[in-house]
Amino acid sequence: MADLSGQTIDGKYQLTEIAGEGGMATVYKGFVRGAAGFQRAVAVKHIRPEYRALKNYIDMFIEEARVGSELAHPNIVQVHDFCSENGSYYLVMEWVDGIDLGAFAKAYVDSGRQVPWALAVAVGIGTLRGLGAAHDRVGPNGQPAPIIHRDVSPHNVLLGINGVVKLSDFGLARARDRAASLTAPGTVKGKLSYLAPEVTFGKANTVQSDLFGVGNILWETLSGERIFDGKTDVEIFKKIRLCNIAPIIEKRPDVPPGLSAVLETALAADPGNRYATAEEFAHALGQIMKQAVGINAATALGAAVADARQRLTEKPGDGQLTQDKSIEIDFSRADEPIPLTQVKRSPVDSNMMTEPNIRPKK
Ligand SMILES: Nc1ncnc2c1ncn2[C@@H]1O[C@H](COP(=O)(O)OP(=O)(O)OP(=O)(O)O)[C@@H](O)[C@H]1O
Ligand SMILES: [Mg+2]
Repeated sequence: MADLSGQTIDGKYQLTEIAGEGGMATVYKGFVRGAAGFQRAVAVKHIRPEYRALKNYIDMFIEEARVGSELAHPNIVQVHDFCSENGSYYLVMEWVDGIDLGAFAKAYVDSGRQVPWALAVAVGIGTLRGLGAAHDRVGPNGQPAPIIHRDVSPHNVLLGINGVVKLSDFGLARARDRAASLTAPGTVKGKLSYLAPEVTFGKANTVQSDLFGVGNILWETLSGERIFDGKTDVEIFKKIRLCNIAPIIEKRPDVPPGLSAVLETALAADPGNRYATAEEFAHALGQIMKQAVGINAATALGAAVADARQRLTEKPGDGQLTQDKSIEIDFSRADEPIPLTQVKRSPVDSNMMTEPNIRPKK
């Protein structure tokens, strides 16, 4: 698809470069300029041309984007605007200066390391805070009007170099699934692995299926492996239905046993055996975080994200490993909502930050 970098959308959003490609859209980094030289970075999602002809899809996309734009929470990527120009559709969002969780985990796998468990837990808490806000949404008439995300997957969890965790693409999965059923099956690749078992049996997505998704991405981040993997979609589908999941402690003997138990609850095959709410799940993770004393999760996560991004952009073969930074983290603050912006200076307790298979430093 043509690269739109350099173009200005709706007279105000200047696209500078492609930031990423997803199943149905290309995401650009851009800027919106104000008076007196003010400018703000934005992410502009451009729906691929082949989808814009699908009237139902576009209607649904607009509706979902509108609902999503109502959600304002520090752990949710804010939707700012929706524009259509020359028959193309653009969703304008807050720009997150960082990488997505999929890329973050990949940076670790590529360099033979494992994500420190406390960082994975911090990502989980942030994701759950965002999800909880959507699940607890109250409609204009004062009645509960929960928004189910439906697509909690590593690419939709964005991690900032400032340590923030932000969930993106609320509700867009519904529009995407609709488009997939209107076009050819299998148009949406790579998302199957994150479905909850009951969804593969035709049940609706619920709060509990979103929570299973969080359990799934945490298990994957910690193990460096897909929880349900296979050569074909059918194979993956069968595995999800069986829902035979190894306790994470078998893959990562360094995690606290309590964390392994929390993930077993989140990943229970029967939705009735999972956590009741995102809040309950986040609280359980917060209790685990208390074991990581002397660490500030946001600072450590931000530094790790910056490091991962650098590793991913390094040219292969140049042989330069970035230095592992000494990072201060205060896990005693883990019960607070992420982002945990305040850094408490305290001596480093490096236990929590030790990467079990870390490569020797140069
Ligand atoms: N608000 C944002 N700020 C910065 N980067 C973003 C933002 N939104 C998306 N990205 C980047 O662009 C990539 C593509 O996003 P996109 O949502 O189109 O695809 P996806 O999440 O991989 O799949 P899906 O189509 O299912 O959402 C993301 O993986 C992420 O790296
Ligand atoms: Mg996405």
